[in-house]
Amino acid sequence: MKEKIKHLTEIINTLSAKSNDEVEALRIKYLSKKGEISELFNEFRTVSNDQKREVGQLLNKLRDDAQNKINELKTALAETASNIEKIDLTRTPDTIPFGTRHPLSLVKNEIFDIFSRLGFVAAEGPEIEDDWHVFGSLNFPPEHPARDMQDTFFIERHPDILLRTHTSSVQTRVMMKQKPPIRILCPGRVYRNEAISARAHCFFHQVEGLYIDKNVSFADLKQALLYFAKEMFGENTEIRLRPSYFPFTEPSAEMDISCDLCGGKGCSFCKNTGWVEILGCGMVDPNVLENCNIDSKVYSGYAFGMGIERITNLKYRVKDLRMFSENDIRFLNQFQ
Ligand code: PHE
Repeated sequence: MKEKIKHLTEIINTLSAKSNDEVEALRIKYLSKKGEISELFNEFRTVSNDQKREVGQLLNKLRDDAQNKINELKTALAETASNIEKIDLTRTPDTIPFGTRHPLSLVKNEIFDIFSRLGFVAAEGPEIEDDWHVFGSLNFPPEHPARDMQDTFFIERHPDILLRTHTSSVQTRVMMKQKPPIRILCPGRVYRNEAISARAHCFFHQVEGLYIDKNVSFADLKQALLYFAKEMFGENTEIRLRPSYFPFTEPSAEMDISCDLCGGKGCSFCKNTGWVEILGCGMVDPNVLENCNIDSKVYSGYAFGMGIERITNLKYRVKDLRMFSENDIRFLNQFQ
């Protein structure tokens, strides 16, 4: 009998429970009328008289211990429950500091904003391209220097595969699968094999535009670009188109805007000319249209392309191109 009491005492001391149901199950197992401790009380009758006093005391203590243990488990469970209630679920969380948009993204979005008001929509294409999309379809003759490894990154052992040098390749892709009217803006990263310095990088970002429809004229191009320049750089901005050459446009031009630093009088920023160059443009060469299965006798179009870094420099005067890709938080933080 004493042994049994000792054994049960040990068990009682180590009891644990995860829920009120478990506590109740323990109470029934040990303390109910048919419970293990009550059974011991029944057995108590058989204990010899000289042992009764001692065993009786042990038995009473066991019952009290068991009752205390059950009570203890109940309060512990109640406490955890009320602790959960103490968490204020309506409290606003600690705020996560907001990052800032990259200056190139800010400027790209602004360019998109302006041209979307003229009906342009975005079109994207792959950065790893083939010769035909980047050069061939765009009227580059086979011996054109852009095809040289000095200027273009080719994939080793695959002379036909290269990193696009301009997003005009996306224009080809759209013309190949869409009938005019086409009015798209192609943003994206482009690659050129240049030594990295404050003024040049082996990759940069462009936005190119293409508009093809019946009766599109050079005047339409000029009007769209004038609208863009005034929206982007201010109402007083003037533009100037200089004749230029691109294989995929004829006629071609480069566009300058009046230098807003000196108001056109001439300063070190505009190299005393009063003008700064911002983009290339022209009427899409009929050969390009034909290469993409568009009838050049029915349709005409204009195209333009600009470097986002250049436009960003004009807006924010970033002196070193490398800042755009260094991810220095002190630089990026300034573009709130
Ligand atoms: N693709 C030219 C470049 O990368 C820019 C351009 C686009 C010029 C469209 C004219 C027309 O320099």
